[in-house]
Amino acid sequence: MTNNKVPFGPTYEEMLNPDTINPQIRQQAIQAAEQNELDPINLFNISWKDKEGQVRKVVLPKELTGVDANIVVMLGTYFPSGSHKVGPAYSTLIEGCVDGEILPGEHTILGPSTGNFGIGVSYICNLMGYDAIVIMPDNMSKERYERIQRYGAKLDLTPGTESDVILTLQRTYELKKDPKNRPLAQFELMPNYRFHRHVTGNSAIEAVKGIGNGRVACFTSAPGSAGTIAAGDQIKAVFPEAKIVALEPYECSTLANGGLGQHRIEGIGDKMCTLIHNVLTTDFVTLVKDDECVRGLQVVQERFKELTGLFGVSGLCNILGAIKMAKYLKLGPDDNVVTIATDGFDRYNSVLEELAERELEVTDNVLDRWYRDIFMEADTRHVYDFRGQDGKEQLFKQKEHDWLPFGYAQEYLDAMKSMEFWDSEYEKYKEYDEKIKEKRGK
Ligand SMILES: Cc1ncc(COP(=O)(O)O)c(C=O)c1O
Repeated sequence: MTNNKVPFGPTYEEMLNPDTINPQIRQQAIQAAEQNELDPINLFNISWKDKEGQVRKVVLPKELTGVDANIVVMLGTYFPSGSHKVGPAYSTLIEGCVDGEILPGEHTILGPSTGNFGIGVSYICNLMGYDAIVIMPDNMSKERYERIQRYGAKLDLTPGTESDVILTLQRTYELKKDPKNRPLAQFELMPNYRFHRHVTGNSAIEAVKGIGNGRVACFTSAPGSAGTIAAGDQIKAVFPEAKIVALEPYECSTLANGGLGQHRIEGIGDKMCTLIHNVLTTDFVTLVKDDECVRGLQVVQERFKELTGLFGVSGLCNILGAIKMAKYLKLGPDDNVVTIATDGFDRYNSVLEELAERELEVTDNVLDRWYRDIFMEADTRHVYDFRGQDGKEQLFKQKEHDWLPFGYAQEYLDAMKSMEFWDSEYEKYKEYDEKIKEKRGK
């Protein structure tokens, strides 16, 4: 394989276990990660694992969490392009390629997003030789737009913020009418589910080896597209006692109670139940306040130097949700809560600058207070139990409300009420792996 040719990238299995990649390609990919992020061989670095094959993670210090349970955070910042969203972007594109639906030189890729997926799409399209248009709200952190443009995609902006993602979907449906355009529809397409169930889910299971009792008691994830939370399906398959928790902004509690509103946690809380969200395995919906995530990020950046740079705002949301659930479920020192930091601090400087402007003074005293109030005194309010039939019905209804208007059939949504639907969608990763190997000549 030469570097100027677009390589067909990794299989799902290789993203989970990069040590199964052809050793020469693996070696080239490891070098490219350090030398040239736009070398297409970097497709083979899409993985939670480092050079040594270990899942990149931190176990949070108890001085930060204030709970006995171990909170294990998997780190998305080390993925190519700086967030794990590059995984679903690649998976959706490669499935389209091997199915013959997306052809290089012929099709332009559309990426509806609030940022990281758009960054991932722009990056992947650069590496794989496609033109790309990222459709996103015009009020997200400026670091996001800069990166998308650096990777070469065009921007098509819709008004608003995170909570106005529905407008990006409507715009995508409009652009899709042009037969040249092919959307990577992260809210609707199953490669996002397959990537996270197989790659993130199994990596989470590996991440707790040697920690506490080596099992996962709880997994928390704040859905944007609800791709990441699919890891919960795999975790539950291996540890049936595990509780899967969807986190939402307190200010936009759509799953919990149909609430709608603006909030500051970029990447999550998109005012909908996405089509690919398997609500059958969602045990709880828990609300986290947006200001606590932004202030919590400032506390971590200032007071926990060993964690500096590793998290963004939604990472803090996932961590605060993990702390709440450890308290709510009364977990002890043997128990592990796993969660995800989708990206790192590199795209949130402007968010903390804005916080400083709003607060006027962030003194040591203020940081002490935030640390105490947000972490040490985290409470268990706003935890909603969705294990019963009523809870499931509520979430099915939300999904119908959100997706019937886009032309999906009632029968398709009804099929999603059975676990068989999800298991069979998941199993298709094996067929895609075969097709990818065939196309690239093994
Ligand atoms: C920063 C950030 N956090 C969390 C998420 C949510 O992840 P998912 O879309 O897999 O639910 C996203 C999605 O784009 C994101 O960008």
